[in-house]
Amino acid sequence: MADLVLKNINELVTSKGKAPKCGADMKDIGIIRDGCITIAGGLITDVGKTADVIKRNDIENYIEIDCKDKTVLPGFVDSHTHFVFGGYRADEFAARHQGNTYMDLLKMGGGISSTVKSTRAASLDELIESGRKRLDSMLSFGVTTVEGKSGYGLDIETEIKQLKTMRELNSSHPVDIVSTFLGPHSVPEEYKGKGDEFIEFMIKIALPKIKENNLAEFVDIFCEKGVFNIKQSRKFLSEAKKMGFSLKLHADEIVQFGGAELAAELGAISADHLLSASEEGIVNMAEKGVIATLLPATAFNLKEAYADARRMIERGCAVALATDFNPGSSFTNSIPLIIALAALNMEMSTSEIITALTINGAAAIRKENEVGSIEPGKKADILILEYPSIDFLTYNTGINIVKTVIKNGEIVINRR
Ligand code: NIG
Ligand code: FE
Repeated sequence: MADLVLKNINELVTSKGKAPKCGADMKDIGIIRDGCITIAGGLITDVGKTADVIKRNDIENYIEIDCKDKTVLPGFVDSHTHFVFGGYRADEFAARHQGNTYMDLLKMGGGISSTVKSTRAASLDELIESGRKRLDSMLSFGVTTVEGKSGYGLDIETEIKQLKTMRELNSSHPVDIVSTFLGPHSVPEEYKGKGDEFIEFMIKIALPKIKENNLAEFVDIFCEKGVFNIKQSRKFLSEAKKMGFSLKLHADEIVQFGGAELAAELGAISADHLLSASEEGIVNMAEKGVIATLLPATAFNLKEAYADARRMIERGCAVALATDFNPGSSFTNSIPLIIALAALNMEMSTSEIITALTINGAAAIRKENEVGSIEPGKKADILILEYPSIDFLTYNTGINIVKTVIKNGEIVINRR
């Protein structure tokens, strides 16, 4: 692997500093003008002004990349996805426009249940193959680290198959993958009307198996009216915590349900969606340092009101943004779409959006010491944009302006 030096960078976004960045600190993205980065052995070794970095490093044998008129930023972290699944649900997009809500479709046996059928039917190899293509696509948008959830098995065998898919892809694909066990994503057919028993099964049988095989670092639950209630969620999450898992929740997506409050009570790493989160829940999250992971593509697709990012930032929360890529409510892994929605419909500034997609995303999966910012010692996961300033990320609406992707110090994508 050759060592690299990126020099004459018009705008170098470092995202450095305390992680995660909370409230008003989210706008501080540590820009260096005429910046320079040296990379050796896959890691960032020096960062600063071009003249200074060149002076203090012997870069004679480095490959030089001239970044004049370009912006450079940390690789994006997509901290909430469900990218391993079988089958598609294209029909549901149209059905939702004919008066069926997302929850109606789930109750009618579609939605998550439909993907459970096709994921149970898919082989490990098929999941690996489709997963690999999806990761290729993410990488082209500049995503260098992704979180992926199980949750389309709802039985031991298939949940493990999904998690094994991610483990295999993590070792064979450049994108880094962090795995989350989302066994309680929905009550399966076999447990219809027996949600409590299903939670019991998750705690007694599933969690120990996942732990034993070290298949996931996080657990998650769909805490929502008509899926899993607060009591069931509290029980599952507290047992998981005792076993050493870190916690995430799908919280307050459709109705105000106390999910944000529960996340704060249990010290979850993040609460995700939060479209209907209460004022008290938001304040509690800020106090307890729970990251608010917002998923605007889902709100967009389901035509729901967006999460109140401004209020969360004003109350001092750390906000992360992610795609929620999944076959139902958000069949998109488009980072440019997320940026556009966050800027235009959630009133987030470009700097806040960058923080939400880099260092705060990294913190939401506890990878803030390895990725998410451009600082010596971190992985050299770096993006070069086609244009001279971060303003183009929002101005060039919905367009992928990532020209070059460097992952672990290697150029993995380079557009002319
Ligand atoms: O985050 N809300 C629950 N889970 C996913 C959707 C899963 C699906 O519809 O397949 C979400 O939106
Ligand atoms: Fe989700």
